[in-house]
Amino acid sequence: MKHLGNKIAFYALIAVVAINTPAIAEKVIIAHRGASGYLPEHTLPAYAMAHALGADYLEPDLAVSKDGVLVCLHDMTLESITNVKDVFPDRAREDGKWYVVDFTLAELKRLRVVERSPNRFPKDAQLFQIPTLEEMIQLTQGLNRSTGRDVGIYPELKDPMFYEKAGFPFAEMLLEILDKYGYRGPEANLYIQCFVPATLLRLRNELGVSLPLIQLISDHAAQNALVTEEGLDKIAAYAQGIGPHKNRIEDDPMLVERAHARGLLVHPYTFRADMLPRKYESIEMELRTFLKEFDIDGGFTDHTDVMKRVIDALD
Ligand code: G3P
Ligand code: CA
Repeated sequence: MKHLGNKIAFYALIAVVAINTPAIAEKVIIAHRGASGYLPEHTLPAYAMAHALGADYLEPDLAVSKDGVLVCLHDMTLESITNVKDVFPDRAREDGKWYVVDFTLAELKRLRVVERSPNRFPKDAQLFQIPTLEEMIQLTQGLNRSTGRDVGIYPELKDPMFYEKAGFPFAEMLLEILDKYGYRGPEANLYIQCFVPATLLRLRNELGVSLPLIQLISDHAAQNALVTEEGLDKIAAYAQGIGPHKNRIEDDPMLVERAHARGLLVHPYTFRADMLPRKYESIEMELRTFLKEFDIDGGFTDHTDVMKRVIDALD
């Protein structure tokens, strides 16, 4: 009997400890524009490589074609990472830029995507096309099936006001595709991210979206209000987390704790092995500092494999 009493007391203690001890949170790796440290950003090979290297989420930034197709691109113009100047020399606007929204999907598919950075994949390779969001999702879900993994997606509504002004219901277009591919409800394996609070508020309140949302926060002064106590309170009412520029955390490590206190995840951007802040000797040191000392919940990286190694070695 005494033995049984001890046993009950033991399990009661375990239960109390379990209730009061926060679960060891999983740190997630968000492959920034795919494995963009190794292959041109936002290309299907870059997404496939990030999946193979162990990313938890693949990140497509989104733009809209002239005929209303969501494509995976960071910029609203094409000249920095495609050969658009050669293929369509007369299609720049007066400002000298070639806008994605001025080209149909068929025209965009004629372009080749090239590396943005001079020190990464050779710039002269003409191997890659612009993928649509649907192609990116088909690739992700196909790899999930063939590998038995469950990698999520982390789409960003880029420049939403620009596309709305051009006549496209950008947010609704994204939601339609997500629904088509089974991303529904708060447990869906994705986060929708955006820098514009009004867009996320509209998703949550007007469009009744229950999918997880992330409020991105740049390091520009214009977004300072978002990291005040009041700003974080407001974000907590509509988002699951924040995606701050990593400088925000360097400048104010308490930002992570203040966000956590409101139940917000913290996924800063962007960890890059070849663009290291001067104070760190290596990306491993930078990542360890953010993951352990600052206690972030994950982050955007161009180098998924490095972040995975660091996370796997955390004690
Ligand atoms: O979306 C997080 C991070 O990617 C934001 O920066 O400019 O690379 O989209 P950017
Ligand atoms: Ca992004």
